[in-house]
Amino acid sequence: MNRKKSPTKLVNLIAEKLKAARKEKKMTQEQVANAIGIHIVTYGNYELASYSPSLKILEKLAFLFNKPESWFFAKDPIIQNNQHPSINNMNFNSNLIGKKILLGVTGSISIYKSLYLASQLKQRGALVKVIMSESSQKFITSLSFEYITQEKVITSLFDISESNNHIYNGNWADIIVVAPATVHTIARIANGIADDPLVTTILGSTKPKLIFPAMESNMWENDATQSNVQTLKSRGFRIIGPAEGYLASGNIAMGRMLEPVDIISYISTILGEKGDLRGKTFVITAGPTREPIDPIRYISNNSSGKMGFALAHVARDRGAKTILVTGPTQMTAPIEIDSIQTNTAHEMYETLKEVCINADVLIMAAAVSDWTPTKMKKEKIKKFGKMDFTLKTKPTLDILSNINYDNLFKVGFAAETKNLEQHAKQKLIDKNLDVIVANNVTEKGAGFSIDTNKVTIIDNKGNTLKLGILSKYEVANQIINKITSMMS
Ligand SMILES: Cc1cc2nc3c(=O)[nH]c(=O)nc-3n(C[C@H](O)[C@H](O)[C@H](O)COP(=O)(O)O)c2cc1C
Repeated sequence: MNRKKSPTKLVNLIAEKLKAARKEKKMTQEQVANAIGIHIVTYGNYELASYSPSLKILEKLAFLFNKPESWFFAKDPIIQNNQHPSINNMNFNSNLIGKKILLGVTGSISIYKSLYLASQLKQRGALVKVIMSESSQKFITSLSFEYITQEKVITSLFDISESNNHIYNGNWADIIVVAPATVHTIARIANGIADDPLVTTILGSTKPKLIFPAMESNMWENDATQSNVQTLKSRGFRIIGPAEGYLASGNIAMGRMLEPVDIISYISTILGEKGDLRGKTFVITAGPTREPIDPIRYISNNSSGKMGFALAHVARDRGAKTILVTGPTQMTAPIEIDSIQTNTAHEMYETLKEVCINADVLIMAAAVSDWTPTKMKKEKIKKFGKMDFTLKTKPTLDILSNINYDNLFKVGFAAETKNLEQHAKQKLIDKNLDVIVANNVTEKGAGFSIDTNKVTIIDNKGNTLKLGILSKYEVANQIINKITSMMS
């Protein structure tokens, strides 16, 4: 394949990060090159964005500069200060960075979604190789996948170069994903019919395998298909979907392939199953609460739930059993996370009392209302000729102080507008917390509704970690790093 030599966006991003990290360390290019054992010209080319360092080299650079590897891939508004922080969408940070994904595509009309899937995986930092069945090439040519993934697409079993070899690719992959999976390919895998590069690679690999079927409902419900699906499940394949919805035939029925965003969530979850939080249960709260004044009005706040949802994604992606207790939010319930929606502070407390019994960690990212009306009016309060209106309120129950189980590690949030550290430290003591995460919601890049945050993490020994503006996903990673370091 004729590979492009011009710098891609990722190469530019890594180059910027390398320059910033090297200057921070006050090192010359030569010193860095010597420290990691490469030629100065090679290192210079990384900073010029002529080449991207391999993952092995990035690992060494990350160690040298004392940064997490993911830092090189995260768009950081502090460094890219000409860009608005909102570009730093939390969905574009994930545990997929550097992960090797073998994507099998087969002859279904829903293959159009797989191009988007490949692109989204790539944008999240994954390395994606595509294997196409013969029929699938009648729907889409390999060129589109090749261009998106910047990898040679495998279309023939008998092209025996190393990168095309079915055993090599089966070992190379961290996970094999077939999306879409036709009735025909499901049958071939179940019956061991190794007649193309896709099925041959799958049969020759021990890596986790995820299958996303797509077909008309009668084909899905057919006894042969169901029996093949059962066979594959019994052999450890994960078959996810199909979903009910609009099919290409115009029917609304079972058979639709899952959407790429959901497929990505499953990939993240399964890749994270063996993560450092395996065996732990994390309870995380998110969003505001609503304290009803009458059947129409309520007291609430601006919390969107994004920080809590980011924490839940990270906990899940690192292998924890994750329970997300939310107030009313507009966010979509995440895949493979038990989500419980509550409304009032009292409902949230009652739910947490139950779910925290067997939990290891409670992270209270929800913005719980401090007050609730003394009494909710049963009927709508009428305006008529009233010139003013006084609402009598009482404090809500302090949830964090009242959830106390042996060995439950408690993390609180303090959203402040002034005297940040002083208020946060007081809250940490008052609520008997292990860690508090403080942010000044009036600061640029921090607070509600946006995809970034700027927090200070304070522990019960008084240690303070001030972070710059990061995506909420990265902030969540840092908070969880703090928790794991204190629990181990
Ligand atoms: C327009 C069109 C759409 C198709 N869509 C599907 C589909 O969604 N699911 C399916 O199982 N088969 C579908 N088929 C049939 C498969 O392409 C056919 O069974 C083929 O042999 C699959 O081969 P493969 O699994 O090796 O790619 C479709 C065929 C055509 C012509």
